[in-house]
Amino acid sequence: MNIIVFDDYEQVSRAAAEIFAKVLARKPNAVLGLATGSTPLGMYRELIRRHKKEQLSFARMTTFNLDEYIGLTPDHPQSYRRFMQENLFSQIDIPPENTHVPFGNIPNEQFDSYDTFCDYYESEIAKTGGIDVQILGIGSDGHIAFNEPGTPLDSRTHVVALTEQTIRDNARFFESIHDVPRQAITMGVGTILEARKIVLLATGKNKAEAIRGAIEEQMTDQNTASALQNHPDTTMILDHAAASLLRQKK
Ligand code: F6R
Repeated sequence: MNIIVFDDYEQVSRAAAEIFAKVLARKPNAVLGLATGSTPLGMYRELIRRHKKEQLSFARMTTFNLDEYIGLTPDHPQSYRRFMQENLFSQIDIPPENTHVPFGNIPNEQFDSYDTFCDYYESEIAKTGGIDVQILGIGSDGHIAFNEPGTPLDSRTHVVALTEQTIRDNARFFESIHDVPRQAITMGVGTILEARKIVLLATGKNKAEAIRGAIEEQMTDQNTASALQNHPDTTMILDHAAASLLRQKK
């Protein structure tokens, strides 16, 4: 694992955007795996800036998001589809049909069950030739996507029950903790590990223990980010707070 530590969130965000921009320069039709949450927002802002000021084009890119809450329609203010529309897709030149975010409102007119959808999502990723670069955040319990502690490290796209810790962490986006969905649909750890390149971003002290576990403890399904130890091309971009519990200071 390649670990890079910066002073602050802005530097982390710029470094992550630079990696994406380089992949797109080399392969304009790259397949990108995207995350939601607070962490990638700065990177998305930087990509939008580069699109507007430097003509960085996303016109041939395809994207797959990691996850979505179950029970929210795509236009719900807290759905991850809406998050992506507002914070990235509507501000760059990606064709809407090239963007994929799991559905959280099944059954719907296209899918009768989550099982059918999960198989479909996996096959859509495979059809593109696989994800070139996957961006990840990390939960304070070590989750990547919504692969909570105990999720098998070879799991594929599936439905999960969110832990109390994740529900508490994400309550800040909702009016009350009671509004946070209890389930989500998520790419599996096995799905994520197939991405050719992985970039995990973490900032802030409340990620420090999860980051220490992911890097310095033995690989375990109790911290699903630790599965990245097995991936041949993973870069973690951290700020000093997230890196503060690492034995070996970077
Ligand atoms: C979101 C996702 C989650 C978040 C994680 C950290 O698509 O997959 O794993 O990356 O919960 O969230 P933030 O960035 O809000 O701290």
